[in-house]
Amino acid sequence: MHYGIRVLGIPDGFRGLVENRFQLLEDPDVSGILTLGGTILGTSRDKPHKMPMGNQILDMTGVAVANARAREIDCLVCLGGNGTQKNAQRIREAGMNVITLPKTIDNDVIGTDVTFGFNTAMNIATEAIDRLHTTATSHHRVIVCEVMGHKAGWLALGAGIAGGADVILIPEIPYDREVVVEHLLERRKHSKRFSIVVVAEGARSVKEARDGKAATPSGAENSNDVEDTRKKADALHEGPHLVQESLDSRIARQLQQLTGLEARTTSLGHVQRGGSPSPQDRHLCTLLGTRAGELLADGEYNVMVAVSGSETVPVPLEEVSRGHRTVPADHPWIHAAELVETCMGNRVRRT
Ligand code: F6P
Repeated sequence: MHYGIRVLGIPDGFRGLVENRFQLLEDPDVSGILTLGGTILGTSRDKPHKMPMGNQILDMTGVAVANARAREIDCLVCLGGNGTQKNAQRIREAGMNVITLPKTIDNDVIGTDVTFGFNTAMNIATEAIDRLHTTATSHHRVIVCEVMGHKAGWLALGAGIAGGADVILIPEIPYDREVVVEHLLERRKHSKRFSIVVVAEGARSVKEARDGKAATPSGAENSNDVEDTRKKADALHEGPHLVQESLDSRIARQLQQLTGLEARTTSLGHVQRGGSPSPQDRHLCTLLGTRAGELLADGEYNVMVAVSGSETVPVPLEEVSRGHRTVPADHPWIHAAELVETCMGNRVRRT
């Protein structure tokens, strides 16, 4: 609008594009939304190249591009995590211009220092860990808190450090149960009568890693794969024997058995993705969004608008869509966590 650009919103993400649903967005439509979480347009997990259409799953990439072309759209702007980046790249390969922005609480998009949503989720998870400390200390318990993050442990690590977790388990560092048990018992020996264990949903034991258990279900591009969700739903209908114990429950049960300490669990789930965005995320969105506007006005397409230090920079979408940005083993956050004697599940540290 600022640049004389006409903006069409697409309800429900790629599904809306395939179903040819568009709505004109004008100034009043986007006024006053800075404080809102989620999206005023709605979204979906659907991918154009594997779109559930009735009883079938079809490649609708061509239809998506044709619908955009029919509206004389010069460029599609796609906001999302790794799945969105990959889908946008496919649309690009099919001949449509795209610009993407990195939006996920997982903070695991390649090419950017940070994604928007991460700070808000980290604040929520940290506050939850703070609150869990109350029962943990009063009742002398071990509390296992599961946070989101299938392939990357940024959220567990960030909130775990900020919340002063005693153990942090992330997908990148397979954990040894005995190491965790020993850490909890050491704390108890030193009159620390509570422990907080923060677990990323994709955390796995050394044995599971050795046996090839992927941080996400094998074959799925990410945990949000529509087919994967369907398979899980089908599996659930086959019988209760297929319903698996949740990760936080399993870890709590094992730790309680092996340490004799009373354990409880809390899984934060979608609470982490809800509510009003943090000031830092609003600030970041404004910087990234305005930069995207400039790139659109300049016709600089097929990039993701990324954060590099204090700058916003365009990075080639091709590079971004290649995978996930996981926590490197030598990352300063891990180093700092270990220096404050947080157990990362892989080696014993004496308190
Ligand atoms: O991709 C972001 C994410 O928040 C992951 O951390 C989590 O595994 C997933 O979404 C949950 O997805 P859904 O809302 O589809 O259950």
